[in-house]
Amino acid sequence: MESEFETFDQIHCGDATEVLAKLPSNVADGIVTSPPYFRQRDYREASQLGSERTPDEYIQRLVRVFQACRRVLKPTGSAWIVLGDKYQKGELLGMPWRVALAMKEDGWILRSDVIWKKPNAMPSSVKTRPTTEHEYIFFFSHSRDYYYNADAIREPHVTFSDESRMRGGRRHLFKRSSTPEKGKNGGNSNLHDARWDQAFHPKGRNKRTIWSIPLSKFRDAHFAVFPETLVETCVLAGTPEHGVVMDPFVGSGTTALVAQRLGRHYIGIDCVSDYCDMARSRLSETQV
Ligand SMILES: C[S@@+](CC[C@H](N)C(=O)[O-])C[C@H]1O[C@@H](n2cnc3c(N)ncnc32)[C@H](O)[C@@H]1O
Repeated sequence: MESEFETFDQIHCGDATEVLAKLPSNVADGIVTSPPYFRQRDYREASQLGSERTPDEYIQRLVRVFQACRRVLKPTGSAWIVLGDKYQKGELLGMPWRVALAMKEDGWILRSDVIWKKPNAMPSSVKTRPTTEHEYIFFFSHSRDYYYNADAIREPHVTFSDESRMRGGRRHLFKRSSTPEKGKNGGNSNLHDARWDQAFHPKGRNKRTIWSIPLSKFRDAHFAVFPETLVETCVLAGTPEHGVVMDPFVGSGTTALVAQRLGRHYIGIDCVSDYCDMARSRLSETQV
């Protein structure tokens, strides 16, 4: 068993399941990761995930990695998992949801399916269907009682501007109790609270499930690198300050980098030694 000193703020090089087996239990606050997609890329590494013969084999192996993660996660921990789909012979495989349902079967609680809209997605020449410009981000919790900081990721109000009119007038402003509404919704404090949150919460409205975030350009990596903004949102909502963020497929180290910048500790794992070196060098360049 590794000591805490060797566990945190390290990029561990090796197969995710094997490395995870050596980590202590109940130490990570949250996971943010983008696993290799099914038959998308050859990482030229014997233990690589993603080159399985069938979707079912891929899903089973991926679920086993997250099973191993669950032991390392604290009971209040959660996992943000980014997954893209794949076409085979013109047919969409539906991989993200197949993985999500398998995770649920395995005991994870699915809290949210977020659409990551990529405004600068690769153009495609297809004429027989719409061009794909999104991936999924699934948010799972380990248990019913989990950490989630809604205030850390609120977004600007859009529904009601200062000029817009609203029944009940501006008496809503900064007031949470009582409902000024008249008519059929009068006295409905649940509705009132929802509207208040949507229109007047001083930190903005609750985060929505479609996130429009451009793809990053990081030339050294031979795979899709996470946009830092995407990781930031997941880290801020899913982990407390000074908490521990884990990425079992850390690649060029984006999750670790963002965690470090936001005052969290990290545990990064990747099976390709060149990527581990790339992540370590990015981390040492930005260390304060
Ligand atoms: C989509 S990339 C992750 C990119 C990362 N989010 C970033 O921002 O750079 C998936 C990563 O999983 C790694 N990987 C593949 N199979 C693995 C395994 N069995 N154990 C650990 N890492 C693995 C690959 O080497 C690759 O770096």
